[in-house]
Amino acid sequence: MTQVFNRSADTWLRFGLFSLMVGLIGGLAVALMFDRSDYRTDRGWVVDQPIPFSHAHHAGELGIDCRYCHASVETSAEAGLPPTYTCMSCHSQIWSDSDVLEPLRRSLRERIPLHWQRVAKLPDYVYFHHAVHVQAGVACVSCHGPVDRMPLLSKSEPLNMGQCLACHRDPAPNLRPRELVTQMDWSTDEDRRKMGRRLMKVYHINPVGLTDCGGAP
Ligand code: HEC
Ligand code: HEC
Ligand code: HEC
Ligand code: HEC
Repeated sequence: MTQVFNRSADTWLRFGLFSLMVGLIGGLAVALMFDRSDYRTDRGWVVDQPIPFSHAHHAGELGIDCRYCHASVETSAEAGLPPTYTCMSCHSQIWSDSDVLEPLRRSLRERIPLHWQRVAKLPDYVYFHHAVHVQAGVACVSCHGPVDRMPLLSKSEPLNMGQCLACHRDPAPNLRPRELVTQMDWSTDEDRRKMGRRLMKVYHINPVGLTDCGGAP
């Protein structure tokens, strides 16, 4: 009987299998890198807004507290975005003729809310509640970065499952007294972990359950 495969076929077969393996592993690596990349998580991406609103100016230099504009952050699931009249409380007097603020005046005249584009947005299937976190002493800066230094807002934290779980597994070092959550550059000489453990007792935070599927993503 003649040989069906010649000698070199075996070599080719090995080579083929080897290439396939390299291809699969390489493909997997690229996919994983993509999943963690800034492109995928939108980090650093600035979206077009109806008015180029500056957090650096308003929250940073002028020192307006986050809650003045994101009024429901301590009480509801959603932080909320400011309605036109919140801006108008100042801009009916300051910069009241400027062109950049024309969309604001039009919104007031025509009673149509400004349509702010969302920057930090979770997929619909993920449940998130601001008040629960803020009342537990988790600061805005932990999840949104140094917003008070951003002329135009962008996402500086990935806000993906990995970040949620990293904190849920060990929340203590991320906690602070709840009345200080909006202070962007707060620091303390006290040991953060020790302080966090104490606050977990005071705020009745139960670490068990934060990483199971019922209580967390
Ligand atoms: C507590 C008062 C206050 C509120 C509320 C406020 N602003 Fe301002 N805003 C100011 C002041 C003060 C300036 C700076 C004026 C200057 O430097 O000449 C300013 C400047 C601006 C400018 C000029 C560009 C810049 O940032 O330097 C824009 C645009 C603007 N505000 C938009 C808004 C919008 C939109 C809102 C509502 C979401 C808002 N502001 C709410 C006080 C306020
Ligand atoms: C004067 C009003 C004002 C103040 C004060 C303010 N914000 Fe905002 N914030 C806005 C407006 C208007 C938007 C929507 C436009 C934008 O994204 O820049 C916004 C958007 C955001 C967003 C993006 C939400 C999303 O998904 O689109 C975050 C996060 C945020 N603010 C955090 C903060 C934090 C933290 C502070 C305090 C350090 C703060 N803001 C203070 C008016 C304000
Ligand atoms: C534990 C993380 C975390 C903390 C702490 C946090 N946020 Fe958020 N924030 C988020 C996530 C996640 C979203 C997107 C929610 C969604 O898409 O359902 C968001 C969305 C927002 C939005 C968009 C509008 C909205 O209501 O969803 C604003 C404004 C905002 N945050 C402001 C704040 C401010 C101000 C603070 C501090 C007082 C704060 N956040 C604290 C994670 C956080
Ligand atoms: C920096 C810390 C931190 C980060 C980041 C964080 N969490 Fe939490 N989360 C907490 C703490 C602390 C609690 C417990 C609050 C309590 O028990 O009072 C909590 C509780 C929860 C709960 C249970 C709330 C309830 O209604 O009982 C959910 C759901 C949750 N987080 C979702 C998320 C999601 C989704 C993300 C990511 C987008 C996230 N968390 C990011 C600290 C964090």
